[in-house]
Amino acid sequence: MTDENRIPLIQVENMKKYYPVKGGIITHTTGYVKAVDGVSFSIMKGQTLGLVGESGCGKSTIGRQLVGLETPTEGRIYYNGGDLAAIQKNKREMERIRTKLQMVFQDPYSSLNPRKHIYEILAQPMLYHHISEKNTVERDIMKILDMVGLPKTVMGRYPHEFSGGQRQRIGIAKALSLNPEFIVCDEPVSALDVSIQAQILNLLKDLQKELGLTLLFVGHGLGAVNYVSDKIAVMYLGKIVEYGDAKEIFNHPVHPYTKALLEAVPVPDPEEKSRGRKLLQGEVGSSTNPPEGCRFHTRCPHAEEQCRTEVPTLYEVAKIHMAACPMAVSGAEVASHG
Ligand SMILES: Nc1ncnc2c1ncn2[C@@H]1O[C@H](COP(=O)(O)OP(=O)(O)OP(=O)(O)O)[C@@H](O)[C@H]1O
Ligand SMILES: [Mg+2]
Repeated sequence: MTDENRIPLIQVENMKKYYPVKGGIITHTTGYVKAVDGVSFSIMKGQTLGLVGESGCGKSTIGRQLVGLETPTEGRIYYNGGDLAAIQKNKREMERIRTKLQMVFQDPYSSLNPRKHIYEILAQPMLYHHISEKNTVERDIMKILDMVGLPKTVMGRYPHEFSGGQRQRIGIAKALSLNPEFIVCDEPVSALDVSIQAQILNLLKDLQKELGLTLLFVGHGLGAVNYVSDKIAVMYLGKIVEYGDAKEIFNHPVHPYTKALLEAVPVPDPEEKSRGRKLLQGEVGSSTNPPEGCRFHTRCPHAEEQCRTEVPTLYEVAKIHMAACPMAVSGAEVASHG
């Protein structure tokens, strides 16, 4: 299916999430952490959007707003064309929708009750939300465990009795058990061994295809994100700086920040390593008091006067490819179109 005839499952319009910073003896708000500061994007049905950027740039905050765990300070989120804020006002409707919007965490341990065995962890929400009935729930759980590559014998075991990779498979099973349409995978492989990472990434990819799921895949680096994603959004300090088709972003990055992230992707060829790969220097700025103009200008090797004062917007660089860097965009047009 081409992009034109795909339907968006998730649409985000100018989302902002500001967290108040408290201070003083008589506690009062002294400022705001601008965790997400005006982002817009869509995720098409059955596709994966990869969200990438350094620690603290607002990736998990976006994820939490999309599954309804928090509400944005400003902006709109549409799920299947319906305004999520309006749906949230109707308790019964929100309860139904919440099962459709699931999250897989970096540390599945935090979302698995250590005192319950796997059968209870999976069965209780399935029965509560009428996904399964008492006489079929065990069979349904076995089916889900099989999908994530675990034997049925794990049902009687507790979360601490598993390895990290197996626990992540249980985290994925828990998300799948409620028959979701959309899953936010928040750095699901970051805490795992490299060999296990590949297995979990392949599992997510296969499940997505098999079940027609729509995913937001959050990661630090472009390597894993590119492997699983159809589209990629690159974030820097609460804003999207580059967005587009995954292959296009990976092969023709335009924004200096995306280029720096790509430099950090490990390469198997030692020759390549010695060719002076430039890793990003300097500290990420603060989300409470972000730099004026382009937020990346304090670390950008190509920054000019304009970058210190003017906030760049996303320009179209090629088909399904946008970047928020006027300095780079003119050169990129040449690179990407021929
Ligand atoms: N509940 C909260 N209250 C106050 N500040 C918060 C809250 N949640 C997140 N933040 C701040 O918002 C910013 C973005 O945080 P977020 O967790 O979304 O980043 P992230 O990109 O997911 O980082 P990481 O890669 O480390 O998980 C950070 O500066 C963080 O400290
Ligand atoms: Mg995070």
